[in-house]
Amino acid sequence: MPSARFAIVILAAGKGTRLKSNRAKVLHCAGGRPLVEHVVLACQPLGATEIHVVVGHQADEVRAVVEPFGAKTILQQPQLGTGHALLTARAALEAAGVAEVLVLPGDSPLIRTETLAALLRAHRADGAAATVLTATLEAPQGYGRILRNPDGTVAAIVEEKALSAEQRTLREVNSSIYVFSLPQLWSALGQVRPENIHCEIYLTDAIELLHRSGHTVRAECAADAREILGCNTRAELAEVDRIFRQRKCADVMAAGVTIYLPETVLIDPDVQVGTDTVIEPGVQLLGATRVGTNCWIGTGSVLVDTVVEDEVLIQQNCRISGSRLGRGSRVGPFAHLRDGAELRPGARVGNYVEVKKSLLAEGVKAMHLTYLGDATIGPHTNIGAGTITCNYDGVRKHPTTIGERVFVGSGTELVAPVTVGDGAYIAAGSTITDPVPADALAIARARQVNKKGWAAARRARLSQPVGTEHRKTSVDKRKPPTQTAKRNHRERKRAPAARKAGSRHRKSPRG
Ligand code: UD1
Ligand code: MG
Repeated sequence: MPSARFAIVILAAGKGTRLKSNRAKVLHCAGGRPLVEHVVLACQPLGATEIHVVVGHQADEVRAVVEPFGAKTILQQPQLGTGHALLTARAALEAAGVAEVLVLPGDSPLIRTETLAALLRAHRADGAAATVLTATLEAPQGYGRILRNPDGTVAAIVEEKALSAEQRTLREVNSSIYVFSLPQLWSALGQVRPENIHCEIYLTDAIELLHRSGHTVRAECAADAREILGCNTRAELAEVDRIFRQRKCADVMAAGVTIYLPETVLIDPDVQVGTDTVIEPGVQLLGATRVGTNCWIGTGSVLVDTVVEDEVLIQQNCRISGSRLGRGSRVGPFAHLRDGAELRPGARVGNYVEVKKSLLAEGVKAMHLTYLGDATIGPHTNIGAGTITCNYDGVRKHPTTIGERVFVGSGTELVAPVTVGDGAYIAAGSTITDPVPADALAIARARQVNKKGWAAARRARLSQPVGTEHRKTSVDKRKPPTQTAKRNHRERKRAPAARKAGSRHRKSPRG
């Protein structure tokens, strides 16, 4: 890395009119980070005396992005062009007593540290007043073009809108990344006038003024032209994002991970993936996600800030955020784990199961159509299909604690706060409101009533010709039971043996 005293200035005050956005351009994200954050990160390892970011539009939001990385900010108000932005930093640079300044735009996030280090080395080796990083683009539209002198030094930079017909064929463009020697820059910049279509003070005009006043301006052409791409439009933003994603997937694959159709996979820059993990098409691994070795992540799954230990199977279309999946656990398809869901080794969560802020111990199974919120579930407990922890009373959340080796029958509602002891058994369809002791059977549901012949009678009634179906069938004709009928019914239920005996007795004389 270069060792001379130098400062870095990142220009990030512009609005980004061409994005047609309410958000300042440098706050837009590509490759999982705000544009300006990428630029600061690329600059950090260079060892500059200080990094300044010129802010203007949404200054506070831009400060909040760059200050955590140690960058200082300078306010440009109003924003009168790239040259004016750099002039705003003059006092700070003079106070720091630096001999050189590396200038970058905040909207070109693909630039790499090595390219910047090479630019600084080239500048020092040549003793030039300014060195411009350039690139040769197939489609140079929108960029300032480099005009070279016969000896290869730079004579001027001409902005797109000021190009002559002949200059339009030039494909070497200005990256807006420069190294300037001080104080030569200040005298040139002081002479720039806002004589252009936008009435702005263009930093590019300082190049021609340096050349005219006898200074040498060098151009260094970037080996990888994509590094200098800017994000002035939504289309450019999408292209830059695509390149970041491609880079990250290439790095992950190089480290021993299989990615099918990598062009459909989004992996954020800080994500780590272990060897022999397989990533299917359309997966997104975002934020601070870490995935272990030998895992499988199915199509359409999105993981955000989640830790996945080794040997985990995540089937298709799961959304998992702020969670931890223990070794050998299995999830999905179509599962939703969030906000502190933790699966201990070997736990399994199946389709249409949502788990929030809950611990599922070793070997727990919740395989179908279930909501577990604010729950702690002991080892090897089985959660039946359609189980719901009713954790919210409309004001507060309450915990559900279930012991180990519990069997929770299908369709159970656990009205929290509630506890279920080890080894207990909950009958299907129960609504559990009270503690269930260990090893108990809890049944909390209405008894079943069977009305014999009811369905057949109804079918018969409905099959009557239209217009006659109002005629009552034997079932409809039944009158509401009188008190006597109810008493008889109760008695019949109480003593079926006696009734049977009576009927035998009646029949026998005839038999
Ligand atoms: C600029 C260059 C162009 C170059 C291109 C490379 C000028 C006049 N043109 O054009 O030659 O090919 O970058 O990407 O410099 N900014 C401020 N204050 C301002 C205006 C802009 O801080 O008053 C910041 C913006 O936030 C942005 C950067 O400067 O991060 C560049 O400005 P932008 O408007 O994107 O310039 P381009 O039109 O891309
Ligand atoms: Mg730009």
